[in-house]
Amino acid sequence: EPLAKSGVWRFHELLPFAPPEKVVTIGEGQTPLIQTDGVGDYIGMGRGNLFLEYEGMNPSGSFKDNGMTAAFTHAHTVGARRAACASTGNTSASLALYCCSSKLMQAVIFIGSGKISYGKLSQALDYGALTVQIAGDFDDAMQRVQQVSKQLGIYLVNSVNPFRLEGQKTIMLRVLESLNWEVPDWIVVPGGNLGNSSSFGKAFYELKQLGLIDRVPRLAVINAAGANTLHQLYEKRGLRWNGGQPDQKIIDGYAAELDSGGKRADTIASAIEINRPVNLEKCLRALEWMDGVVREVTDQEILDAKAQVGASGMGCEPASAASVAGAKQLREEGVIDPDARVVCILTGHQLKDPTATVAYHTADQEEFNRVLGSRGVSRAEFANR
Ligand code: F0G
Repeated sequence: EPLAKSGVWRFHELLPFAPPEKVVTIGEGQTPLIQTDGVGDYIGMGRGNLFLEYEGMNPSGSFKDNGMTAAFTHAHTVGARRAACASTGNTSASLALYCCSSKLMQAVIFIGSGKISYGKLSQALDYGALTVQIAGDFDDAMQRVQQVSKQLGIYLVNSVNPFRLEGQKTIMLRVLESLNWEVPDWIVVPGGNLGNSSSFGKAFYELKQLGLIDRVPRLAVINAAGANTLHQLYEKRGLRWNGGQPDQKIIDGYAAELDSGGKRADTIASAIEINRPVNLEKCLRALEWMDGVVREVTDQEILDAKAQVGASGMGCEPASAASVAGAKQLREEGVIDPDARVVCILTGHQLKDPTATVAYHTADQEEFNRVLGSRGVSRAEFANR
């Protein structure tokens, strides 16, 4: 029974858009929730209170498979023959994998030149995606793929696609299942294009409406400091969902500043190197439903946190560690209580982006400077042991 083996489709009653016989699954969503005091101590949590949702264990190595199986299934139901995305590397790896496994579609991917780790690029190439490298970054690639897919009638699987978000809701269902349906106090997630955070809000809203839970956790979305649009808008300028009418002047004003300053996203966490998140409004809605907060963390904090995740025996890519670094900051501020139950989402596998890891741990200071020095990152104390 293939649906039962999928951590997404065994919840198909909550994903009613897909006729079971059309579902395209590769066994996604079989991911563990792991309680770890090592990382808990680092953050400053009480014993037994810190959990990591290990989404790197998905078939393509990131949480994207949760959403891709849903969007891909929808693409199949409408008879699409080609599917496209812009990507910082994980969405494209996931799309390419579903295409080559199912042989139902050709993958067309748009990536910013030099803005993707080799681990992720090599997946797309091995899986046979038509790979278009454009001069520019993710934000440019996103704009381009939206134009091109519309012009040529190619099915778009970026998280502007609502079926992606439906699939990603199941990450929260599995977290709850692992906690015997006891609602945690905090969900902490990195924020890039803001698809995950948007889908988590929708998941908890629906579960409450259905009467399956009696309260919702709080949401913390963590930006990299070099790609901090949500933090700027939500925490610094007070932008709120406001019943679906967020203050457009604030949004437009910020976009104009990005345009006129030529400001580009810049962080070691290439997965979330995004300045113009397409799910901004849905994320604002999730922040309202889940009484959310937004924080930004530096590249140094991200790499330090990532090393702690590695030392705990799991490992993750830099963007994922933003969740742990953000939880630490919120714990230090006293926003997160040490007795709270906190779930950090580890969005992508350690082997996705080994360059930063090797540079961080290497004894070769020259190599370290070459890779990371320009970003103002220094080697952490413990790495010298
Ligand atoms: N973590 C990882 C490992 C990611 O790959 C991404 C997004 C995020 C976090 C941010 O998630 O967009 O839902 O806020 N990666 C996209 C990509 C942009 O193209 O693979 P989000």
